[in-house]
Amino acid sequence: MRVRVSRRFRSRLPSITVCLIVNIGTSLTQNITLDVFMHQMQNCTYCEFKVNVMKNAALYLVTGVSGYLASWIARQLLEQGYRVRGTVRSLGDAARADELRRLLPGVDLVAADLRAPDGWTAAVAGVDGVFHVASPQAVPSESDRTGGAVTGTRYLLQAALACPTVGKIVLTSSEAAIAYGHPRAKQHFTEDDWTVLDGAAGKNDYFRSKTLAERLAWDMVGDSKINPRGIPLSVINPGFIAGPSLVPWARFSLDLIKNLAEGRIPAVPDMLTHVVDVRDCAAMHIAVMANPATNGHRHFSFGTEGKMARIAEVIAERFATQGYAPRARVIPTWLLGLARVFSSEIGGLYSKLGQPNHYETRWPGVFRYQYRDFDQIITDSMHSMFAHAWLARRT
Ligand SMILES: NC(=O)c1ccc[n+]([C@@H]2O[C@H](COP(=O)([O-])OP(=O)(O)OC[C@H]3O[C@@H](n4cnc5c(N)ncnc54)[C@H](OP(=O)(O)O)[C@@H]3O)[C@@H](O)[C@H]2O)c1
Repeated sequence: MRVRVSRRFRSRLPSITVCLIVNIGTSLTQNITLDVFMHQMQNCTYCEFKVNVMKNAALYLVTGVSGYLASWIARQLLEQGYRVRGTVRSLGDAARADELRRLLPGVDLVAADLRAPDGWTAAVAGVDGVFHVASPQAVPSESDRTGGAVTGTRYLLQAALACPTVGKIVLTSSEAAIAYGHPRAKQHFTEDDWTVLDGAAGKNDYFRSKTLAERLAWDMVGDSKINPRGIPLSVINPGFIAGPSLVPWARFSLDLIKNLAEGRIPAVPDMLTHVVDVRDCAAMHIAVMANPATNGHRHFSFGTEGKMARIAEVIAERFATQGYAPRARVIPTWLLGLARVFSSEIGGLYSKLGQPNHYETRWPGVFRYQYRDFDQIITDSMHSMFAHAWLARRT
C-alpha cells in the first residue's frame, strides 16, 4: 500500500516534528495542563500552527480581566479557541500579571484605568467584540464607585464605538440597576424595570454606579453621532454571583460568604437572593455575544434563588466538621424599617425585605444554566476558598 503525502505537508514535516518534540518534552518536565499545551503548540516558533490556528480566531476584549467574573469569561473564551485581550488597572504588579498569564494562557494584557482616558483606544484596536465587565465593586477599598463606573463606561464606549473592527458590545450590569428603590407593593421584576435613584436606593453608591453606567451605555449606543455604525449592545444583569474563584485574590462575592462562614455577619435581613454560579454567568456572557437575537436587550442572569440566611445554614450543615458552623439570625423587617432612617444601605434594600421578590426574565430561551443548586454553589464557593487558603481548615 502506498500512502500519498502532499508536497506541502512534506515540506512542513521537519518543523512540525521539532514542534511536537519541543512541546511534548516541555509538557513532561513541567507537568502542564492540556490548555497550556495547546497554547504552546499554537504559539510555537518552530512551526506554523500559530499562523494556521490562531489567525482566524476572533479577538475579544475583556475589561477587568483580573476580576472574579471576567477571569472566567476570559478562560472560557480561550478554551473555545478565541483570542483574548484583557485590561487591568496597571501592569505595575508583575507577579499579578504573571499569575494572570498562567491562568489565562495566551491572554494579551493591557493597562487601562476606568478613571482615566488613556489606554482604551489601544485596548479595543483590532478586536471583534468587547465584554465590558470592569466596575468598582461594593468593597471598602473602592470609593466613588459611581464616578469610576461612569467614566470607565464612557471612555471604553467612546473608543469601541469608533473602532472599525468592533462588531458587538456586551456590558455586565447588575440586578442593582433593575430591582431597587421601588415601592414595597412592587414584588415582581423583569428587564423592563429600572432601579429608582430618587430615594434611598440612590444613596447607595453601588446601586447608583450600576444604574447610571448602564443608562449611559444605552444612551451612547443609541446616539447615531457617537455610534454611526449602529454597533449593537447587549446587557447582562446578574443577581448575586457565587461559585469558585479562578483568580487567587479575594473578591467581593466570596468575601461575603467568608464573612458569613467566620461568623462576622451574625444577622442578615429577610431577603431572597437570586444567585448565579460564576461559571454559568461567564458562559452566558459568551452565549449572548454570539446570539444576535440578544442585541438591544437586557438579560437577568440567575440560575437559582435562596434566602440570605440559607447561606449560613448550608455552611453549618456541610462544614461544621471543618470548624465552620455559623448561625446567622434573621433581623425582623420591622426593625430594619426603623433603622433605614439612619442607614442608606438598609434604606436601599428595604423595599425588598420580608416579602416575595420575584425576578422573571423576558428572554428565558437565551441561556440554559448548568449550576442551579443553591446549596451546591455555596459548597463550591467554600471549597474554592479552602483551595486558595482564604479559609483555614480548622480541624
Ligand atoms: N459579584 C457579584 O455578585 C455581582 C453581581 C452583579 C453584578 N456584578 C458585576 O459584575 C462585574 C464583575 O464583578 P466581580 O464580582 O467579578 O468583581 P471584581 O472581582 O471586583 O472585578 C471587578 C474588576 O473591575 C476592575 N476595576 C475596578 N475598578 C477599576 C478601575 N478604576 N480601573 C480599572 N479596572 C477596575 C477590577 O480590577 P482590580 O483587580 O484591580 O480590582 C476587577 O478586575 C462588575 O461589573 C459587577 O458590578 C457582580
